[in-house]
Amino acid sequence: MAGPLVRPRRLRRTPVLRRMVAETVVAPEQLILPVFVREGLTEPKPISSMPGVVQHSRDSLLRAVHEAAEAGVGGVMLFGIPEHKDAEGSGALDPNGILNLAITDVVGEVGDALTVMSDLCLDEFTDHGHCGVLTSDGRVDNDRTLAVYAQMALAHADAGVDMVGPSGMMDGQVRVVRDALDADGHTDLGILAYSAKYASAFFGPFREAVDSSLQGDRRTYQQDPANGREGVREALLDVEQGADIVMVKPALAYLDVIRRVRDAVDVPVAAYNISGEYAMVEAAAAHGWIDREQAIVETLASIRRSGADIVLTYWATEAAGLFRG
Ligand code: PBG
Repeated sequence: MAGPLVRPRRLRRTPVLRRMVAETVVAPEQLILPVFVREGLTEPKPISSMPGVVQHSRDSLLRAVHEAAEAGVGGVMLFGIPEHKDAEGSGALDPNGILNLAITDVVGEVGDALTVMSDLCLDEFTDHGHCGVLTSDGRVDNDRTLAVYAQMALAHADAGVDMVGPSGMMDGQVRVVRDALDADGHTDLGILAYSAKYASAFFGPFREAVDSSLQGDRRTYQQDPANGREGVREALLDVEQGADIVMVKPALAYLDVIRRVRDAVDVPVAAYNISGEYAMVEAAAAHGWIDREQAIVETLASIRRSGADIVLTYWATEAAGLFRG
């Protein structure tokens, strides 16, 4: 009996052959490293739910971004954790606030080697932990929050950032940030919009990472995980408002949304491989239940394969080396 006429296995025979026909490549410059810097630290402080990730001191942050640059990573996304939080998140606007200082530090250290981005949101700075300021009856006030985001964007711009990442899921946030930047002469400063952001359980470890005091959830502003079409709508709205890059977040439970957004817009699409996705792999690997490096490679390749041009991942520095070999 004649064997099969078509044998897809032929292309899987050797490692070099497999590499030659690989449809998806993960290049170091497509990876962005998110980093946390906390006011008042003299030593980095481990985040227990994210083994291997720390809250940085201003000094240790510079070492981390330097390492990322050496590894060829494309960019860093900065998060600041202030010593004091208040209802209005005023630490976000203070030129001497931790995030604004860190932006200037990092741009000075590695500004030529990688793109420096900042998370533009209030949740790290508010004592109630929400991404905006509240109305007197405790709801997140969309339009008053927009005014604060506009000022925050200018603070980041003054600190020297390359790109801001509005991530609060307020309606109209990209437009208001674009207008504020342009009016102040920052027409070249880019916007990576957290466009399709879902109210996700997988953000769990991030709460520890930023010492969040959030009670309850973000379901009145972040999206319902049931909705894919709405993710595309949010991305299209952000492109209309001037986003240079749109992002889907989380990544793994939303690979379909990444694909749909990729097909719907003509700007680069980023995806954020978030804290809980990181923690699951690290926890299973620590138990010896999965091969850690293979799981990292497979995770990041799957996000790229689904359509993301750029991936934010806490493994960025390490992964840059894993894919190079
Ligand atoms: C908002 C922000 C969050 C994350 C990134 N930016 C928290 C949230 O939206 O609830 C989560 C990142 C992660 O979980 O790794 N400042």
